[in-house]
Amino acid sequence: MKDKILGKYKKHFGNPQIYVKSPGRANIIGEHTDYNHGLVFPFAIEQSIGMFIGKNDIGKLRLIALDIEEEYIIDISNLTFATDGWTRYFINSLVALSYDQSTGIDIVFGGNLPQGGGVSSSSALTCGFLAGVNQLFEYNHSLDDLVNLASQAENGIGLNGGIMDQTAILKGEKGKALMIDFADFSVKKYQVPSEEYKFYLFNSGQKHNLVDTEYNKRRATCDAAVVQVARHRNNVKTLRDMMLSDVSQYLTDERSRKRCTHVIEENNRVIAAAQLMESGNVDGLGELLLASHHSLSNNYEVSTPEVDYLVDRSQKIDNILGSRIMGGGFGGCTINFVKGELADSDVEKLWKDYNSKTGLNLELYEVKANDGVVTERL
Ligand code: GLA
Repeated sequence: MKDKILGKYKKHFGNPQIYVKSPGRANIIGEHTDYNHGLVFPFAIEQSIGMFIGKNDIGKLRLIALDIEEEYIIDISNLTFATDGWTRYFINSLVALSYDQSTGIDIVFGGNLPQGGGVSSSSALTCGFLAGVNQLFEYNHSLDDLVNLASQAENGIGLNGGIMDQTAILKGEKGKALMIDFADFSVKKYQVPSEEYKFYLFNSGQKHNLVDTEYNKRRATCDAAVVQVARHRNNVKTLRDMMLSDVSQYLTDERSRKRCTHVIEENNRVIAAAQLMESGNVDGLGELLLASHHSLSNNYEVSTPEVDYLVDRSQKIDNILGSRIMGGGFGGCTINFVKGELADSDVEKLWKDYNSKTGLNLELYEVKANDGVVTERL
């Protein structure tokens, strides 16, 4: 794949200066907690985007997406946040960087990261490009700077997202999951169970359409709940400082109660997952995943009937210890914790049942923890 991307680059633009490999991410547990100063447990995956980058002296941003055979040429001066198409990830990255040079940039990218498959392909593009440009122009931005720039670039698009995806993609490490604490941005790495255990993603085939508006609404509800509780308990600054007793005592609105209950309990599930991984006794992760799903479905209300069915149906396969909706929600993927091998016959039956129930086609892929973004000067 790398050779194919390089071949295309050379054909169109000559010799590139930088190569970037930027992975997607999976999240074991800890959903809708990142923007609530909570805990998450993601890892960068092997599936990735490869990107060659170089300078040009014609003042243009020239972009080629190899897999979908699309190319764009954009004037690099006076860029402003864009909202449409995949080119916005590149444009918005340059806007976030306050890029004001006349030097143009050429990019060719491709890879095996499913686009729109719930593995954060948009953050992979954004983080990869920013890391590449950082090296190309020797800006010396730290990884934390890049996380924040990527978040600005993506938030320029409409989703008021947290920074779990960018952190996992930029800071990932082979074989490790990252327990990130967004109260102080600390990262603790844990060995991901391997050999006997596997993580699979089941892509529901349902595009997460509502994600922008509903996601932003969830976030606003949580922020408002914190303000309300803080009126009674002035040491409550974020949802992380809240306890379940605050929810029952100070929140009257049923919806706010459910949202905050999810976040508080989900943080506890992340801690429990880390303890299991530390002890090496990981079978119990399955139950935590299921509890997370039920909370995401019933309390945070970010699942869909199709994904609920998929999670329930997956439990009929003996060696799927647990599964849950992953990422922002409203479709996308489930993450499944599997002991041993998934039998082809079980997968086929699952695929058929899911298809006849929903009319959608399931896609399956195994995900393994891998390094975050890697850049190379050529
Ligand atoms: C999306 C966002 C993340 C995170 C998840 C939900 O993937 O980009 O920041 O909030 O949803 O956990």
